[in-house]
Amino acid sequence: MRLSLRLILLLVVGVTAVTFLVARTQVRAEKAGLRDDLQRRSEILAESLQELVEPALGERSHYELRRIVERFGNRERLAGVAIYDLDGKVIAESPRLSERLDPPAPPLDAIQSDQATGKFVNLAGIPMHAYYVPLHNQGHVVGALAVFHDATYIYQQSDRIWRDTMWHVVAEVLLIVFVTMLIIRSAIVVPISRTTQWIRQLRNGKGKFPPRPKMSDEHFLAPLSEEVMNLARSLAEARASAEEEARLRESGDAIWTAERLRLTIRSRTEQRSLFVVSNREPYSHVHGPKGIELQVPASGLVTALEPVLRACDGTWIAAASGSADRETVDASDRIRVPPDTREYTLRRVWLPKAIDDGYYYGFANEGLWPLCHIAHARPVFRSSDWEAYQAANQTFADAALAEMAGSSQPLLLVQDYHFALLPQMIKRKRPAVRVAIFWHIPWPNPEAFGICPWRRELLDGLLGADMTGFHTQAHCNNFLETTDQTVQSRIEWERFAVRRNDHLTLVRPYPISVDMRERLFGNEAGSPYLLRAKLLKNLGISAQFLGVGVDRIDYTKGLLERFRGVERFIEKNPPYRGKFTFVQIGAPSRTRIERYQQFLTDVQAEAARINARFQTPDWRPIILLTRHHSHEEILPYYRAADLCLVTSLHDGMNLVAKEFVAARDDEQGALILSQFTGASRELRDALIVNPYDTEQVSDAIRLALEMDSDERHERMHRLRRTVRENNIYRWAGTLITDLSELRVEEPDFAADRPN
Ligand code: G6P
Repeated sequence: MRLSLRLILLLVVGVTAVTFLVARTQVRAEKAGLRDDLQRRSEILAESLQELVEPALGERSHYELRRIVERFGNRERLAGVAIYDLDGKVIAESPRLSERLDPPAPPLDAIQSDQATGKFVNLAGIPMHAYYVPLHNQGHVVGALAVFHDATYIYQQSDRIWRDTMWHVVAEVLLIVFVTMLIIRSAIVVPISRTTQWIRQLRNGKGKFPPRPKMSDEHFLAPLSEEVMNLARSLAEARASAEEEARLRESGDAIWTAERLRLTIRSRTEQRSLFVVSNREPYSHVHGPKGIELQVPASGLVTALEPVLRACDGTWIAAASGSADRETVDASDRIRVPPDTREYTLRRVWLPKAIDDGYYYGFANEGLWPLCHIAHARPVFRSSDWEAYQAANQTFADAALAEMAGSSQPLLLVQDYHFALLPQMIKRKRPAVRVAIFWHIPWPNPEAFGICPWRRELLDGLLGADMTGFHTQAHCNNFLETTDQTVQSRIEWERFAVRRNDHLTLVRPYPISVDMRERLFGNEAGSPYLLRAKLLKNLGISAQFLGVGVDRIDYTKGLLERFRGVERFIEKNPPYRGKFTFVQIGAPSRTRIERYQQFLTDVQAEAARINARFQTPDWRPIILLTRHHSHEEILPYYRAADLCLVTSLHDGMNLVAKEFVAARDDEQGALILSQFTGASRELRDALIVNPYDTEQVSDAIRLALEMDSDERHERMHRLRRTVRENNIYRWAGTLITDLSELRVEEPDFAADRPN
């Protein structure tokens, strides 16, 4: 308040001073103008009178002179006219003059020097202007004529200007006070008090993250609000970590947290740095209508790795994918991310288009992806794709070696089926780098894998790693059996390792997971019922029960089977018609591949067919949203849904199932989960289904909706405990601990030669 008072005072003083200065100048100019005008009028009048009076001076009487002065003496503002003789004695004067005041004698010097003269005088307290002209007779000065004008109006005019100025000042001051108060209130006081209230809620909130007060990006407080948001985030994270640490100490339980991972990496790796290579980058920049926009891709791998990189300030090497990626990196192709907190480095790699096509769309996604997923899509193997795959792996290996050049004993975590050859390429150059590769998708049985023409090369590449990780023990077993049947090697079953060319590779299951504290960052708190009503209203639907599915549109996800399950449920349970709606959030994926384009069309057609069978004007059984949704957009659906459907035909892990569980801090909602996902091995309290069995899926939907509320609560409670204990920090922590503890054997590879 003090500040606003001071501001108002300053404005008032400033405006008053300026107004008075302007008024003073105006008064001066006005006065000067009026005086000049009066002087001119006096001159004209005096000269006219002079012409009349002079001829009358000689022959006519004083009576004639009086008659002349009386005739002219009645003009507006004219106080009077007087005629003097040479001695300055009045010989004729207008009556008004003689009644009120004695006309002063003309200045003798003016008469003597034969000059007209005018001046302002004060006669009996009245401001007057007197103008004198000499009178002549036969060429000699014989007297003078004086014209007196009342000059009071000049002073009255100045007074009027000053009075008006004062009213202006009063009006301006009132306006300034009002407008300033209004601006201060709406632009400063209200946003600050809302932010203060929000910070207070944050401080007092028990694990909740209240929505941030609305503020436009252009508001001058927006950068401050952004910083406070970041601070609050860090605070919330620290508090969640501290709470978990405390719980950990109390229960003697081994819960992993971001802090524990950070400490582990520091102590286990003795100042070693962590490097990650993946194809998909965690953030891409694209040109949008409002300039450069940030995008977070739909990838479980990205969801999982982000907290790990943030925990230990590592370097993430990934393929550039956004149209504005080049404009946002520095000269070394690096950028600090996440954009608001800048906790780790993203190093972008550019591949020539032909290589990218063959490597990513070709060998990785038309070859290896269907090869490893038993989802009845035939793999396509082209030699040109294989060559591109080798070239791309080499490019990434070179980038990783360049990034690791400054680190003495780095840890390298290679991600997924895009980089099977990379471990060996790295080890050949730097044998002392500890390399792990994590295969995020299933590993098939030896017969299925055996159809790949380059199976030996792929295995050799993978066996370059010190450790190869999968989500489940079953995938590890498949890998060991495949190795056993495909290449010359010794399988050490008792410690789950492969020895080939004197190099040992450990093969271990590390079930990947999510960060349970994600819940802290949701903006949508509150009752799931209200949230559901809001979401359905936005979709233009009226329903009472809501199911949700979130997937990339991929033929391995069992979307058609899922829709048929929903169809059968509606068919078998008529009371749910008009009451149950299933929302499928589907991010289009790999759309340059024909199989994916066809699948997207199939999914849309299937949803349309089922809707056409049952829909009413304000209800549909299936709503298909085929666009990328941000995490913030998905979260309300997770929180509002009665059930979540995950029906993959084959899936390494499936993090949607775990994200749904992590989002349900109300311990409500049921998870229906395919038995063919890695997640089904851990999430035993889900309703496990065979997605090919339409009856079973339909019955599971009914069971999820009608389950006794205590049982639903119990199941979700246990699911949450599992995800909390087996979180993403445990995944990274155990993997890195194992990697740092193993003894790196240096076989016949060359000595460590930094690139
Ligand atoms: C799976 C793979 C990831 C991949 C993701 C998205 O989860 O394991 O490596 O990033 O799908 O696919 P995309 O091809 O869009 O990266």
